Amino acid sequence: MQKIIITGGAGFIGSHVVRRFVKNYPDYTIINVDKLTYAGNLANLTDIEDEPNYRFVKGDIVDIAFINQLFADEQPDAIIHLAAESHVDRSIVSPLEFVMTNVVGTVNLLNAARENWKGRYDQTRFYHISTDEVYGTLGDTGMFTEETAYDPHSPYSASKASSDHFVRAYQDTYGLNTVLSNCSNNYGSYHFPEKLIPLAINNIKQSKPVPVYGKGENIRDWLWVEDHARAIDVIFHKAKAGSTYNIGGHNEWKNIDLINLLCAILDKKLNRPAGESARLITFVTDRAGHDLRYAIDATKLKNDLGWVPGITFEEGLEKTVDWYLANEEWLENVTSGHYQQYYNEQYANR
Ligand code: NAD
Ligand code: TYD
Repeated sequence: MQKIIITGGAGFIGSHVVRRFVKNYPDYTIINVDKLTYAGNLANLTDIEDEPNYRFVKGDIVDIAFINQLFADEQPDAIIHLAAESHVDRSIVSPLEFVMTNVVGTVNLLNAARENWKGRYDQTRFYHISTDEVYGTLGDTGMFTEETAYDPHSPYSASKASSDHFVRAYQDTYGLNTVLSNCSNNYGSYHFPEKLIPLAINNIKQSKPVPVYGKGENIRDWLWVEDHARAIDVIFHKAKAGSTYNIGGHNEWKNIDLINLLCAILDKKLNRPAGESARLITFVTDRAGHDLRYAIDATKLKNDLGWVPGITFEEGLEKTVDWYLANEEWLENVTSGHYQQYYNEQYANR
């Protein structure tokens, strides 16, 4: 019997991790701790919200008093830490929010774990979810391995790099049992439509311009979010204390090629003449400090723990488009902001 706190469980990846753990481990108690920022949405979890092994606690990981109370009340055995400010463009506008949640919030959780788990570090685990963006950018060749030196460029990746260093420091200094994984760009259902794939699907659907930064030459390595949740499950249960794993889909796409593929898929699904959606592509000013290319070498994860991606990108993208077309209400709610008002009112007094 394990009691696991999953932070950021109302977000995109967190909701898939919560769902997987709630469904696959009926003996565990899963506590989803989330502040419900603009990116947190409990509608991502309606299918499991009544399960007896699931609970939601609204709170801010920057708030030390809240974290201390949470540990006192819940006495968790493990934390899977996903809560973060996650969007690079927002980090360029408001870097301090990223320092607060991603760095200070992580250190608050590490401190609580260090205090509360004293004498039983071998029976507890702090699993930190991070990004490949900490490694910086690649040229035309090469891949990020677990040995690649950190070289973050955006305020987002700088904050995640800092949190990664703190996690390793708590392992090395205090002996806390930590594991860390750095993954590539995720895609799939419940992805907030500010990130490239859901934003493009939504705009194409509504015949709005699809903004492509610069010339669309940047390359991302796309990972199916449910494959990521499965990797997190394997790493959580099997990785040695102090270890790090890279997780990636081995699936590099130039942004412009990806957008063109999405346009072609949506032309078919929306019964538009071939080429109609591609006319929405609009080249806009490039992102400041825009990393050219990310690519993950996930050989260590394959060799040590047997994880490989489960589906191809074409399959995953088709499923993703189908999900967004079938879930108009979800999309309408998150773009209108109604969901936030509703859930904040519902949970304000808990
Ligand atoms: P997301 O933005 O969809 O969700 C983040 C969640 O964290 C939201 O539910 C939000 O309400 C919550 N949160 C934010 N600040 C909080 C705070 N102060 N206290 C408590 N909760 C707070 O993010 P995501 O895309 O699901 O990413 C999850 C994790 O995975 C992050 O740590 C991110 O850095 C990492 N990651 C994401 C990707 C990706 O492609 N999305 C890739 C690599 C790594
Ligand atoms: P994004 O989904 O924001 O993820 P990240 O910046 O963490 O990789 O962006 C993915 C790629 O798409 C990145 O190269 C920036 C680019 N992009 C656009 O061209 N247009 C957009 O509207 C967005 C949001 C991103």
